[in-house]
This record gives sequence, C-alpha cells and structure tokens, in this order.
Amino acid sequence: MLIRRPKGYVLKDNDVTPQPSYLRRREFLAAFVAAGGTLALPNAAQAKRFSQTDYAPLTGHKTGYSVKDPLSPWEAVTTYNNYYEFGTGKADPAKKAHKLITDPWTVTVEGEADKTGTYALEDLIDYNALEERIYRHRCVEAWSMVIPWVGVPLADVLKKFAPNSRAKYVQFFTKYSRKEMPGTFWPVLDWPYREGLRMDEALNPLPFLAVGVYGRVLPNQNGAPLRLVVPWKYGYKSIKSIDRIGFSETMPETSWNQSNAREYGFYSNVNPLVEHPRWSQASERVIGPQRGFAGALARRDTEMFNGYGDAVATLYAGMDLHKNH
Ligand code: MTE
Repeated sequence: MLIRRPKGYVLKDNDVTPQPSYLRRREFLAAFVAAGGTLALPNAAQAKRFSQTDYAPLTGHKTGYSVKDPLSPWEAVTTYNNYYEFGTGKADPAKKAHKLITDPWTVTVEGEADKTGTYALEDLIDYNALEERIYRHRCVEAWSMVIPWVGVPLADVLKKFAPNSRAKYVQFFTKYSRKEMPGTFWPVLDWPYREGLRMDEALNPLPFLAVGVYGRVLPNQNGAPLRLVVPWKYGYKSIKSIDRIGFSETMPETSWNQSNAREYGFYSNVNPLVEHPRWSQASERVIGPQRGFAGALARRDTEMFNGYGDAVATLYAGMDLHKNH
C-alpha cells in the first residue's frame, strides 16, 4: 500500500511505513548482520573487491523476461562500473561508493501526477513480490554484459503515483551529495545526474527498478538502493540511486544529452545502424564468463534495440531513428 505524504515532508520510517514491507527490508538486513554478514558498507580499510556473500541475500521469482545468455561474472558486474559521481574510472565506483548513505532512503515525486510527495523506499517497493530478470546491458562505449537483476517493473511503481493526462514524460534524478560523492567535486556533468523516458516507454513491461543483483542487495556502485534498468537503451539511460521522479508534459533534460547533444540523444535506443560520432556501434565487446573480463573477449554483433525489438519496436513506429537517436 502506498501512503501519500504531504509535499516536502520526509517521513520517519517507523511511523507511517506499512509494517510488512518495512519489517521485511529491515528484518533481513538485521538478520544478515546478526549472522556475520558485513553488509555493503565497507570503511576505507575495507577497500577491496567484495565477494557476493558480503551482501545480504535478496531474491526474486523468475519471470519470462530473462534472456538465456551466459551471465557476466559478479566480479565484472560489481567492479567494472560507470558511476561518475564516484569518479570517471571504471574501478572508482567500487572503491569509493561505500561513502553513499542508502538507508534511510526516500524518493520525492513531483509534477503531473495526483500522488506527489516524499515516500520511503519501503513504501514504493514490495519486497515480498520481487522478480529476477536477466537482461542484456549494452553500454554506449560498445561493451556489454548480461546481468541478473532483482526488482519490480517500473510501470507498477509509476502507476501508484497516478500520473495525469498531461504526463507525457517521466524524469529521474540521482541523489546529489558532495560529501558522499567525491566525483561531484568535478563539473563532469551538471549534477545531479538526470534521465528521462517518454511515458509510453516507461509503461512498457520491460523497464525495471532494481534493488538487487545476483540474488543480493545492490552494491552501492551498481546504484543502491534503487536504480533503473532499461535494457533496449544504452546503459547511461539506466540511472542509479534514484531519489526524485518528476512527471512532465515536455521532454525533460537528460545529463548526457545536456553535456553533448550531438553524441547522446534523448532516446538512445541501441541501434547498430546509427554510429556514435567517434566510434561504430555495429558490434560490442562481451564481458562474459569467458577468460574473466579483462582479457581478450568475445565480440558479438550489436542487435537493434539490443535484441528487445519484439517488445519495443512499435513504440517508435514512423519515427526517424537517425534523427531521434
Ligand atoms: N547513473 C548515475 N547516477 N551516474 C552515472 O555515471 N552511468 C550510466 C548508468 N547510470 C551512471 C548512471 C552508465 S554510462 C552505465 S553504462 C550504467 O549506469 C552502468 O551500470 P553498471 O555500473 O551497474 O553496469
């Protein structure tokens, strides 16, 4: 059940959060710590590569949305990351993202919807009804992974806010904290990181809000405690650590488009026929189980819509996908 909060009111998580979901998230975290688990909160001395068992278990029921491709290893998924708020190097997020405080966590909802306000994460995500979805992830930098996410369909969460008929787009923001995010000291992007989808894209069954990966709670470097996964678009659309969602009538700003509109369009659908101005998108380096993830890797031809065309091609019927890249 979703409880409406007055705008700007940040709730205390023990007063208004529905008991079962509140207890479920807190209980398994507490039980995990009691059992000797360390949780994803390393201190500086622990700056090492974390094994899967360092994170609390979080499983979801399997659905028909998963691909059959072999998984990229946990090690690659959690140490080869893009999360510029913690630095622009691929290894920076795994080293520095422990500084991000993810509990308690709220999401503020604003704009063209009936149920705006500030919500506890536990009000938005039903931890008793999580799904696991194995999705292909295609980064714009021409590498790809196959990742088992745990979470809920984005559409299920957005519908709770009752977007009105003027809501044509939805925008997402990442938390912005100079103190917790050392990379935001540099003006690499206009912080906070922001992304957006057209409403019909957002309500398609594929976009997923992940709270876990590989049967564990999300490591911070992967976007804890709540991140978007849009598998037919380049990876930068899949915004991490979301703390604000806005509905609007007009197309919202997106970080990479603001930074370089020629190279990064609003849609950013995976498309092997539309070259990035500086490199080809026709094929990709697969970061898979073969030979770790740093060595000589397999290549595969990039598929239109990252192989998800059956589910999403109709969203773009009649559109010029070169112009609307
Ligand atoms: N979200 C935020 N807030 N900041 C970022 O720098 N990088 C994006 C996306 N989401 C990014 C972000 C890019 S470029 C990619 S490829 C994916 O996150 C990487 O997700 P992963 O590290 O979990 O594989």
